[in-house]
Amino acid sequence: MPGFEIFGDEERKEVMDVLETGVLFRYGFEGARKGHWKAKEFEKKLCEITGAGHALLCSSGTAALSIALASCGVGAGDEVIIPPFTFVATFEAIINAGAVPVFAEIDETLCLDPDKLDAALTDRTRAVVPVHMCGAMAKIDRIKEFCDAKGLVLIEDACQALGGSFKGRHLGTFGSMGCFSFDSVKTITCGEGGGVITDQKELYQRADQYADHGHDHLGGSDRGADDHPILGTNFRISELNAAVGLAQLNKLDRIIKIQRKNKQTIKEEMATLPGITFRKILDPAGDSATFLSFFLEDEARARSVSKALGAAGVDGCAYYFDNNWHYLRHWHHLKNLSGAAKLPLELLDNKPDYSKVEVPLSDGIIGRNISMQIKLGWTDQEIDQRIKAIKKVIQN
Ligand SMILES: Cc1ncc(COP(=O)(O)O)c(C=O)c1O
Repeated sequence: MPGFEIFGDEERKEVMDVLETGVLFRYGFEGARKGHWKAKEFEKKLCEITGAGHALLCSSGTAALSIALASCGVGAGDEVIIPPFTFVATFEAIINAGAVPVFAEIDETLCLDPDKLDAALTDRTRAVVPVHMCGAMAKIDRIKEFCDAKGLVLIEDACQALGGSFKGRHLGTFGSMGCFSFDSVKTITCGEGGGVITDQKELYQRADQYADHGHDHLGGSDRGADDHPILGTNFRISELNAAVGLAQLNKLDRIIKIQRKNKQTIKEEMATLPGITFRKILDPAGDSATFLSFFLEDEARARSVSKALGAAGVDGCAYYFDNNWHYLRHWHHLKNLSGAAKLPLELLDNKPDYSKVEVPLSDGIIGRNISMQIKLGWTDQEIDQRIKAIKKVIQN
């Protein structure tokens, strides 16, 4: 997810605007900032792009998840259903909120299977957090139907899916809140940054307060005059990070267009190869195309193909089943509940034992999956070479 590939004069200009004022804080200093409000501008633009009513920029995608959980009232002892294929931040934010992650199976969308949510439901379930992994959509309409029917909060982890949509609606706008990451390897980057979006003004206000020590931001230029309706924390973005992100956000259309073209070229060629099938993408027009995810016949073949692709110089092909990154199988710190200090969920009578969690259907899917990063900077010749190398490996 390579926004960093296209840093240029636009990013430099936005950052220099900020440095020239000396105002790195996103609030206040109205006189000194010479009209530059980078975080605010970013939020306005994010609303335009996603169609959401409100957006709050924050310090990371992980912070965005924490803000969304807090704003939606998900906290101590609440169970939250999530997929076993995600980044660790999804369950870290839940655990840090004092809540309890509960895993449900995924399907060939690589996202939560709406038909398997019921099996994870208990009388303590409070929320579902589907993750739109690798740039494309979960069955979000059916997941929303489930949440509505059961009275559950729906928060979308769209950290990997900026620019993605389902039936014309931007991912992250189906639930009460949607979360994005703008870390250094996302579709666009602030260096470090994240954002939440929502259509509900009260949720936005809660988020705005929670991410800044509970400040209601009603005290005008005197921060000391702000009241604190709730306890919060500091998940603020700096104007420098927001400035980089703003320049990047203005390039989003171009980024998505290049990704789609590069992905399509490789996918068409790979579709002719024996034994290759692709991740289910319910609405191909809404794929942000950051990854080309495909399946091999079985686990052994996927493992050997992934090694052979690496050896053949086809970089950026992740076999998540074996690495420690995005799949439950190797999340040893979760399985051992290795916190830096005692965790809130350790106080629960029904403390979960993650070493015993079994997700056989998800194992069967991720075990066969390879996900290939799509880059912006590839030349036509590099894409041709890549295709040739892939064909050679698969046909071997
Ligand atoms: C699915 C998912 N959720 C959350 C995050 C956390 O984002 P950040 O790195 O900005 O904290 C990431 C980042 O990789 C992610 O991929």
